Amino acid sequence: MTRIYAMANQKGGVGKTTNCFNLAAALAERGQRVLLVDCDPQCSLTAALGVSVLELKRSLYDLLFDDGPHLGEVVLSTRMSGVDLIPSHPKLAEADLQLLTVLEPQKRLAYQINGRSASDYDFVLIDCLPSLGTLMVNALVAADEVLVPYLPTPLSTAALPYLFSTMDRLYRLNPKLRVFGIIPSIVDTRTKVPRVELDRLRRLYPRLRILPSINKGVALERAMGLRISILEYMPHSTQAATYRELARILIEAAT
Ligand SMILES: Nc1ncnc2c1ncn2[C@@H]1O[C@H](COP(=O)(O)OP(=O)(O)OP(=O)(O)O)[C@@H](O)[C@H]1O
Ligand SMILES: [Mg+2]
Repeated sequence: MTRIYAMANQKGGVGKTTNCFNLAAALAERGQRVLLVDCDPQCSLTAALGVSVLELKRSLYDLLFDDGPHLGEVVLSTRMSGVDLIPSHPKLAEADLQLLTVLEPQKRLAYQINGRSASDYDFVLIDCLPSLGTLMVNALVAADEVLVPYLPTPLSTAALPYLFSTMDRLYRLNPKLRVFGIIPSIVDTRTKVPRVELDRLRRLYPRLRILPSINKGVALERAMGLRISILEYMPHSTQAATYRELARILIEAAT
């Protein structure tokens, strides 16, 4: 059965795109078929996969509106074997307003992704934009579960309730939605702050699953710049090991 995860946090720059990209690589390494959905008008994930948005005929934007193509017509294969992509487009930035005119604007992505073509995949990972608007709501309504990249700092902790209350408000539209876990990301192991903040997070949300942390490391940025995963760029790094561990956890939870 296809498992659909939204990589979501309305805070910017917390590792959503980096985690989608490298987690997809780790899942594919274990023989899983993965569909990445770039739900961010910044198009970072699309660019990281080497797709030039200016040359795109179709993107997620077209999928969200009536009379558009169906999923299979928008999916691109990528140079990562086993990983396909629904690319984004800068005009997705206008979707928030334009979706006001369509029926059930929050369900557009769900309608496409829960259809037949997505069942070809073991995992769908939706890279969300840093905002709690209609696009993010579409991702949360389409998803089974949410992975929350989280920078262990007091400000990030203070921002989490807004994400959780948005999820609560969507209960009627997607009653199955839950947080699969928090992924502490870009964790600077040279200071005490992340450890202290993670302890505080555990006390604040004792039932929240804290997944393995992705440590801060320049190799991850370099790898993204080269459009390859950390698993390919530095297969023996701690970050590669953590993405493999996360993939193992997701696969185990799906079976
Ligand atoms: N573990 C890491 N170590 C070092 N740098 C990282 C790590 N993870 C991400 N980065 C870098 O941090 C920056 C933000 O990461 P990323 O783009 O993945 O965040 P994001 O949450 O998707 O941002 P946005 O909210 O803008 O979409 C990028 O420059 C990325 O290369
Ligand atoms: Mg991003």
